[in-house]
Amino acid sequence: MNVDGKKYRTIWISEDGGSVDIIDQTKFPYAFEIAQLRTKEDAAHAIRVMQVRGAPLIGATAAFGVALAMRADPSDASLHAVCAELLETRPTAINLHWALSKARKALIKVPAEHREEAAFTLANSICDEDIAINMAIGMHGMELIAALAQTKKPGEPVNILTHCNAGWLATVDWGTATAPIYMCHDGGIPVHVWVDETRPRNQGAFLTAWELGHHGVPHTVIVDNAGGHLMQHGMVDIVITGTDRTTASGDVCNKIGTYLKALAAKDNNVPFYVALPSPTIDFSLSDGVREIPIEERSGLEVSQMTGRTAQGTIETVNIVAEGSEVANPAFDVTPARLVTGLITERGVLEANRQSIAQAFPERLKL
Ligand code: MRU
Repeated sequence: MNVDGKKYRTIWISEDGGSVDIIDQTKFPYAFEIAQLRTKEDAAHAIRVMQVRGAPLIGATAAFGVALAMRADPSDASLHAVCAELLETRPTAINLHWALSKARKALIKVPAEHREEAAFTLANSICDEDIAINMAIGMHGMELIAALAQTKKPGEPVNILTHCNAGWLATVDWGTATAPIYMCHDGGIPVHVWVDETRPRNQGAFLTAWELGHHGVPHTVIVDNAGGHLMQHGMVDIVITGTDRTTASGDVCNKIGTYLKALAAKDNNVPFYVALPSPTIDFSLSDGVREIPIEERSGLEVSQMTGRTAQGTIETVNIVAEGSEVANPAFDVTPARLVTGLITERGVLEANRQSIAQAFPERLKL
């Protein structure tokens, strides 16, 4: 993605090779800052405090965390330890497990003296694969949006609602839910995006709005509860979200609030699509509501808000009545019956076991 004329991925090896560099997402939308990861502890910290976030980018960062650990100590014990340590950083996104298990399986076969090089090569290939997947998702999703554009008057945009940030900041490049949007915009199909602010961490208002704005895509930030109202008034043509983990049966886990959007979409006959890279499918699970671990985050994310004052200082204020309990489940599960389709790198699938299995037969054998 271009930022101020320079092309960026969200994670890369520094020019001198001494660090893995990331865009620090805790600084958005006020600053675009690069942070350097030099150790496995830096990588674990970056995932835990959400300097990097979004399922695919969490997986890519974990792969680089393994590489940094192999640079410091390429032994078997170090490999097992870093995988165990990184696995604990965030519980819901399955891409973390996927990347770590891929790294462990591949690297354990490599002699210790070659492990650092092999680990960096693997991390880079995970990044390249992520970009290729997202571009394929973009092409398939673009067809859906193009079909909706045919029903519009010339120049009238297709209105897309999205939740959280499944954009290029959540991946290595392009995004999942945003890839079709960027491709339509670049290809001359008019689009307008309703961006859910996505409390409590405001990934919509802080990240999605920032990146759509930088790409010149028309968008409007709305409070999380506005989507149902907009759908009742014919102002949403399609919902496209990302996912942190989707079961083999098509239940979709994504940022808290996604389920309510899917219910509203069903009630208003608005198609509800999920952009789904295959590393986000958990083939070991069938019942998303009961089986997917939902991250419970700090209550401070609910009781406080941070923003920039008119004077330009960043301040945090309390917004909840003193003494009240707060709870902060970070994800929810949308049952497959509410999902119109899964936009994958191998085409648009029905959200059911048969369709997913047919598209990814090799993953069933693992
Ligand atoms: O808590 P986050 O910001 O990591 O949550 C991110 C999301 O919910 C995204 O929608 C999901 O990871 C898909 S990213 C392509």
